[in-house]
Amino acid sequence: MNSFTDGGTPTAHPRPTAGRRRHTLLPMKNILVLNGPNLNMLGIREPNIYGKQDYPTLVAFIQEAAAKLGLAVDVRQSNHEGVLVDWIQEALGKFDGIVINPAAYTHTSVAILDALKAVALPAVEVHLSDVSAREPFRHVSYAGMACRKTFAGHGFDGYRLALEYLTTL
Ligand code: DQA
Repeated sequence: MNSFTDGGTPTAHPRPTAGRRRHTLLPMKNILVLNGPNLNMLGIREPNIYGKQDYPTLVAFIQEAAAKLGLAVDVRQSNHEGVLVDWIQEALGKFDGIVINPAAYTHTSVAILDALKAVALPAVEVHLSDVSAREPFRHVSYAGMACRKTFAGHGFDGYRLALEYLTTL
């Protein structure tokens, strides 16, 4: 007898019982990973700050980290604020969370902040560099005001930490 045959209301996700593992019963979380302007130039741009590894290497790193955590990821990059806003809006109903490195738009974009607030999906902010130790204009993060957590200064690993954090929610 189980929750489908005992006369009770069938549930999409029966409670785990002995011998059943919780992760085999729940659907995989789907995470949207967004990268802002100039991150496509990784490896070329200011390697002393952002490292020598290129953008495709970052995407592969994120995909591997997600697979290890049992997450599905869609990793996107745009140099255009409105495109990032559109992607955040479209995430509603399709994704369970957002990891975002808004790059320079971090420090300027109320539109990205408003989009994150509008969809109200759990969001985590990532920066490759430690923005708090750089120029004062990088100390302000609009997007961060709508994020549950920020990982800055961990390089590529910040994305893994952000994904790991989303698995805990
Ligand atoms: C960045 C930090 C931003 O200040 C900068 O404009 C970027 C990258 C980072 O990942 O460290 O483009 O978001």
